[in-house]
Amino acid sequence: MFDLIIRNGRTSIAPHSLDIGIQNGLITAIEHHIVAETHQTLDAQNQWVSPPFVESHIHLDSVLTAGKPRWNQSGTLFEGIEIWRDYKQNLTLEEVKTRAIEALKLQAQQGVLYVRTHADVSEKNLIALQALLDVREIVKDWITLQVVAFPQDGIYGSPDNEKLLEEALDRGADAVGGIPHYEMTREDGVKSVHRIFELAQKYDRLIDIHCDEIDDDQSRFLEVVAACAVRSDYGDRTTASHTTAFGSYNNAYALKLMGLLKRSRINFVSNPLINITLQARTDSYPKRRGITRVKELWQAGLNVSLGHDCIQDPWYSLGTGNLLDVASMAVHVCQMTGMDEISACYDMVTVHGAKTLNRSDYGLKVGHPANVIVLDGESPYDLIRRRSSVVAVVSRGRLLAQTTAPQVQWLGPPIAQI
Ligand code: FE2
Repeated sequence: MFDLIIRNGRTSIAPHSLDIGIQNGLITAIEHHIVAETHQTLDAQNQWVSPPFVESHIHLDSVLTAGKPRWNQSGTLFEGIEIWRDYKQNLTLEEVKTRAIEALKLQAQQGVLYVRTHADVSEKNLIALQALLDVREIVKDWITLQVVAFPQDGIYGSPDNEKLLEEALDRGADAVGGIPHYEMTREDGVKSVHRIFELAQKYDRLIDIHCDEIDDDQSRFLEVVAACAVRSDYGDRTTASHTTAFGSYNNAYALKLMGLLKRSRINFVSNPLINITLQARTDSYPKRRGITRVKELWQAGLNVSLGHDCIQDPWYSLGTGNLLDVASMAVHVCQMTGMDEISACYDMVTVHGAKTLNRSDYGLKVGHPANVIVLDGESPYDLIRRRSSVVAVVSRGRLLAQTTAPQVQWLGPPIAQI
């Protein structure tokens, strides 16, 4: 007896439709047609069935604050940091938790069941971090949340920051973060990367560094991250986020760097919605795209995932939490318009995201947690093109959300025979 059978789903696993049987929160059968009793049935009607979306990069501590205390007029990363610095002086645990859970619900109902959030640990009382650690516990029955200890103002930006970062790890942050391009000097930036690797190994944590999120073609901390990963054999557990300067490096240096990156096996997260708007604000024309080399990294066999980064915060006043919006933007901005490339962009918000989060329990496999979504579309290409609705979200074997896909009724005059 199954608890739930999802019937007639199109998947990437088989050319024909599949049924997925679920018991006790786990996928226990995947077959062409399951003949068994079940408490509940969900008919996918030959639409796409997928493991859930993975949000591999978001800042839940700052979501839903756009315009407070003021709007970002220049549109730059640096004005965003200034506004956030003012806002965060008055954070409370309840306020951060309320906003974070609201954003997680918004994402979960759109099929996101794994999330990596960054938590600013540059303020003395660590309220943002503690709030997100609390949220991780509150939501654990329906969404998997990882928290990165992120020193937004730099590890060496003020005397207490290094200690605060370590305290965040003591309190249970899943990953160590950093922002080397924002440290006061290049030397501080290099030192910060080395410190991040020391702390990650000491506390046995993952690494996710905001790396080279700037248009400066001389911002070259990615090579430091990759070299540290090679030397400590930590590549699978290391992520370089943003790396937008890589889009501005000359090709001779990029070629040399790519060899090192392949050796390092580190993960990459690109945030195309945000960086297409934040970057190149000092350019006149021609104006750069400000995005890392997503297509080339993917072609080189490196793991690349895509994140939303911000939803209505000082860096980006827009955002829906929908990862198909992110994948669609990547298709356009990274010029990944070939069929294989469009499919790869879908992978970047699903399976590649799970790899970034270092999850081994992800995917439509017998024995895995029953985290499954049903979408109103026939293929990843169709889903991204139409930014389809996620019509059903199953989390830990239970229906978490259902959405009715929009339907249009034509009320105009009949079309004459052609
Ligand atoms: Fe970020």
